[in-house]
Amino acid sequence: MRSKVTIQNLHNKVESGQKITMLTGYDYPMGLLEEKAGIDIILCGDSIAMTVLGHESTLNVDMETMIIHAKAVRKGAPTAFLVGDMPYMSYQISKEEAIRNAGRYMAEAGCDAVKLEGGANMAKTVEALVNATIPVMGHLGLTPQSIAQLGGFKSQGRDCSGALKIIEDAKILEEAGISLLLLEAVPPEVAQIITERANIPVIGIGAGPYVHGQLLIVHDALGFFDAFTPKFVKKYLDLNSVILDALGRYKEDVEQGQFPEEEQCYKLKKGELEKIQKELAK
Ligand code: KIV
Repeated sequence: MRSKVTIQNLHNKVESGQKITMLTGYDYPMGLLEEKAGIDIILCGDSIAMTVLGHESTLNVDMETMIIHAKAVRKGAPTAFLVGDMPYMSYQISKEEAIRNAGRYMAEAGCDAVKLEGGANMAKTVEALVNATIPVMGHLGLTPQSIAQLGGFKSQGRDCSGALKIIEDAKILEEAGISLLLLEAVPPEVAQIITERANIPVIGIGAGPYVHGQLLIVHDALGFFDAFTPKFVKKYLDLNSVILDALGRYKEDVEQGQFPEEEQCYKLKKGELEKIQKELAK
């Protein structure tokens, strides 16, 4: 088994020019597979609200649900760097609630860090979490918990003022103490400027190639979620088709009496059927 992935390992990767790999993971089986594949960072993301729970945005998932899933991922992936995504309204109301909820990710689920969305407006919360010994990953660009303000799932930082705001927010978050930064759906040039100025690992999802590492939502990468597919997704598998084919063959087998066959049946011990029949005949 590889040794535990730490912030220090991630910094070492950046220094030696190796790219950091990150995927979302929501449960034990995917944790196992991502661990086996050697993925560095697993994000138990609030995207679970859409990919697993069938909601239309990431707003509909609470802390209890996230803790259950983060625990399951940790069981499957003991050495990956596990990031617990702070769900909507688990950190915005007060610094105290943010610390309490983030602390649950660390103590109950065994996370290595928590992620929260927002820039300068979250600097004081980041400081409070870091002072409470909780490592934080920042998240800038397209921040899905703000879709009501952003007007939907739209790329960000595509004009000068938008880009400068994200560049400034990145600096403020780093000064506030974040250990890692995630940039979502921003042009590569903007991500490059932020990455070159940063002293922490910068991971991109839809932020081009010049960042220190890449994140994809695992259900997008595997073709297991097709409600919509963002421009930045590369599909490595069409899992929906694979599963649909298997389900169809199962249905056909059952309907045509071809499942179960002898090899899927338990055997009665020798001579026991005769005994049963004798007993029933009495
Ligand atoms: O919840 C999540 O998966 C995320 C990504 C969209 C970055 O926050």
